[in-house]
Amino acid sequence: MVKKLKLITIINFKTYKEATGARALKLAQVCEKVSKKTKVKIIVAVQATDISVAKKIKIPVLAQHVDYFEQGRHTGKILPEVIKEAGAVGTLVNHSENKLPLKTIKKIIKRCKVLNLLTIVCASSVQQARQIAKLKPYAMAYEVPELIATGKSITKIKPDSVKAFASLFKKTRIIPLCGAGISSHEDVKLALKLGCKGVLVSSASVKAKNQEKVLREFILGI
Ligand code: G3P
Repeated sequence: MVKKLKLITIINFKTYKEATGARALKLAQVCEKVSKKTKVKIIVAVQATDISVAKKIKIPVLAQHVDYFEQGRHTGKILPEVIKEAGAVGTLVNHSENKLPLKTIKKIIKRCKVLNLLTIVCASSVQQARQIAKLKPYAMAYEVPELIATGKSITKIKPDSVKAFASLFKKTRIIPLCGAGISSHEDVKLALKLGCKGVLVSSASVKAKNQEKVLREFILGI
């Protein structure tokens, strides 16, 4: 039996056409199947219009962003109440493709805590992670924007920074994750070795010809 990795894998569907609408549900079902087979926790982060996939699968679903406003006259905003109602267990916050000021991050974390929604807050530097950690999110994800979608893994290119990032959380309950360029079992194993508890992955799995095969390779190295 191949040694299973104990890790959290968040698959960020982003706005890729391969993970939108009917294809979002299809990929979410693939993630559910691999999670069931490997017993590894796979979480999917989907576009707001696709959060309802949560009603059709048994693995956790995240939004990719929420706004902090209360319900009312806020046309076009995505509210925590709405993603919760649609079935999300939480949300990404401050992804490098959707950056927010610290005061906005603080308001979002506060609003999500009231609704028991998990917040996975992204940081593009160890320094920024140190600042955001004070807001006590559920998890933090370190991503180096220039490595995103390159296939050059943050764990291979910036191991010392990943290690420094993960060490920020040693004495806290905040879960450290990392992402950007992760595209192989080795990249994932290195993330765990450097102290992270999981990874955020997107293009390598979402844009793969055989999404299930790539996902299984990440987790089981086969
Ligand atoms: O949220 C994770 C994402 O930004 C990483 O992207 O394509 O490098 O796996 P990718």
